[in-house]
Amino acid sequence: MKIAILISGRGSNMVSILDAHRQNKFESNIEIEVIISNKTNAEGIIHAKQMGYPVEIIPHINYNSREDHEREIIKLLEDRNIQLIVLAGYMRILSKYFVSNYQNKILNIHPSLLPSFPGLHAQRQAFEYGVKYTGVTVHFVNEEVDQGIIIMQEVLEIYPAETIEQLTLRMLEVEHHIYPKAIDLICSGKYSINGRILQRND
Ligand code: GRF
Repeated sequence: MKIAILISGRGSNMVSILDAHRQNKFESNIEIEVIISNKTNAEGIIHAKQMGYPVEIIPHINYNSREDHEREIIKLLEDRNIQLIVLAGYMRILSKYFVSNYQNKILNIHPSLLPSFPGLHAQRQAFEYGVKYTGVTVHFVNEEVDQGIIIMQEVLEIYPAETIEQLTLRMLEVEHHIYPKAIDLICSGKYSINGRILQRND
């Protein structure tokens, strides 16, 4: 399975995926073909290069419209025969045009138990709402933000005395171990989808 990872910033989830790849932790046959950044100064670019993975920078500010920018990305994805797109802190909403080209072939990770707290700053939304449990969701990307089919979730308790910063850090650790597992599941093909329900077949 040929994978592209899209980033915009720090890239810690990307690093966890690249680490898993380098350490042969994936059971499926995975090739990470390219890391794509829409930001020239994304910290993740440095990490990806240090780890020896090819990086392409396609800054959205160089294009007149979202579609023009996406067309350039799709061209790259097609040139490299990419079969799975992994969003890892990619801070652009993908258009219907993009998503329809890659139905159930785009993964995202979101720092809440969806469908609760979609959108930006999900950790803070959950924290300030006062929920006692929150978590991490890996899902397919569809036309609606953070509403695609759920692939995997993991729950985190919010401890009474902890700060939002501590919670965010603990959540990031969970993200780093759940995302490679979810990618492995999708690449293995050992799942079926019935309506919104994704079921593991192993
Ligand atoms: C993570 O919290 C992820 O859940 C969200 O964006 C953040 C990206 O962090 N989608 P990083 O760039 O992977 O460090």
